[in-house]
Amino acid sequence: MNDCLPEQAYIWQFLEEKIKKVLDSYCYKEIRFPIVEKTALFTRSIGEVTDIVEKEMYTFEDRNGESLSLRPEGTAGCVRACIENGLLHNQQQKLWYKGQMFRYEKPQKGRYRQFNQIGIETYGIADADADAEVILLSADFWRTIGLTDVELQINSLGDEQSRAKYREVLVEYFRNSYELLDEDSKRRLEKNPLRILDSKNPEMADLVKNAPNLLEYLDEESERHFQRVQEYLNAAGISYVVNPRLVRGLDYYNRTVFEWVTTKLGAQGTVCAGGRYDGLVEQIGGRATPAVGFAIGVERIIALLEVCGVEISSKLPNVYIVSLGDKGQEQAFSVSSILRNEIDGITIMQNSGGGSFKSQFKKADKSGAGIALVIGEDEVEKGIVGLKYLREKREQETVSVSEIVSRMRELI
Ligand code: HAM
Repeated sequence: MNDCLPEQAYIWQFLEEKIKKVLDSYCYKEIRFPIVEKTALFTRSIGEVTDIVEKEMYTFEDRNGESLSLRPEGTAGCVRACIENGLLHNQQQKLWYKGQMFRYEKPQKGRYRQFNQIGIETYGIADADADAEVILLSADFWRTIGLTDVELQINSLGDEQSRAKYREVLVEYFRNSYELLDEDSKRRLEKNPLRILDSKNPEMADLVKNAPNLLEYLDEESERHFQRVQEYLNAAGISYVVNPRLVRGLDYYNRTVFEWVTTKLGAQGTVCAGGRYDGLVEQIGGRATPAVGFAIGVERIIALLEVCGVEISSKLPNVYIVSLGDKGQEQAFSVSSILRNEIDGITIMQNSGGGSFKSQFKKADKSGAGIALVIGEDEVEKGIVGLKYLREKREQETVSVSEIVSRMRELI
């Protein structure tokens, strides 16, 4: 679990602001829901036999003996909140959320026990255009933040029946090569065989590569749906790779699943993942409602921006106020408050804790501010402010206090 220090926080803010703009441009609305939910919500939705539920949840009993868990992801809580607040019945919703998620994983670069997701979920739209829109929206994120090193992989898991049929074929296939399976895969064989396809073990690569192809077992409707998703993506000029081994680590998906992956972050290369989950709302107690969404891993995006050399500069103050003497310091408060009230968005760092002109100018320089306003006893007496350009070779000016707002408006 990491601290986010000031020298990183501005990168987070940059990212969140950019993403918020994209979300606004698609008319998605924010939803906030608790970090803690009843454990059963997660076990029922994510699936009993998944890594998350089996090994990774932060689960505890509250004082009433009720089992609660820190949310390992957002989808389950989002669905619960929507059902409880009546957002789903006969309605379409396009929602987004951001926040911390918790998984007790083995920490490594790009994989943390507390991490942040920005997720979107749409409800009430069964058509493939919803799948395409969420994918397009994610593509717009990358464009907006200047990220190019991500590849879109898509797949379809079909409906429940076609997946059950495929599961049988797959179990049969792996059982025939049982001695080649690693321990993890042997364990998964009966409980969650599709996850074997996700194995990263190089010794099993051939076995996985030759496994029956999920897409050949799709039901007709899902096949058409998947075709339509691809047509929309083609129309929008989004390139993608169909990866029939893409199965996802959560049980609630059906039909379209997708991941945005990069090779630049080592083993933790998935920066965004999601898909359709038409059965989940009903499973959790709501009326059957089609749904599709995704979540991006914010830490991974930030790491990728760094690796790709995308420059993000922190916001520097517009003004540093240097003041000397009791009267000068008092006037500094007055001038800074006038400027803050009058000029929307102006950023002012006022010298705190006194010091000589020289030491204050040093601090002004270090702050990165473009302009220093200088207020000493002399300036107070004359009703003026000294204005010094810290980053340009320009003559120092004196401005009367009554004109400081208009002069600063011109300059910022
Ligand atoms: P997920 O694949 O479990 O899906 O997580 C989504 C993304 O969160 C991952 O692709 C990764 O970028 C990031 N992530 C996951 N675990 C960690 C970790 N331990 N440390 C850092 N980043 C991590 C979901 O959570 C689904 N709820 C997505 C979704 C929304 N599907 C439909 N709607």
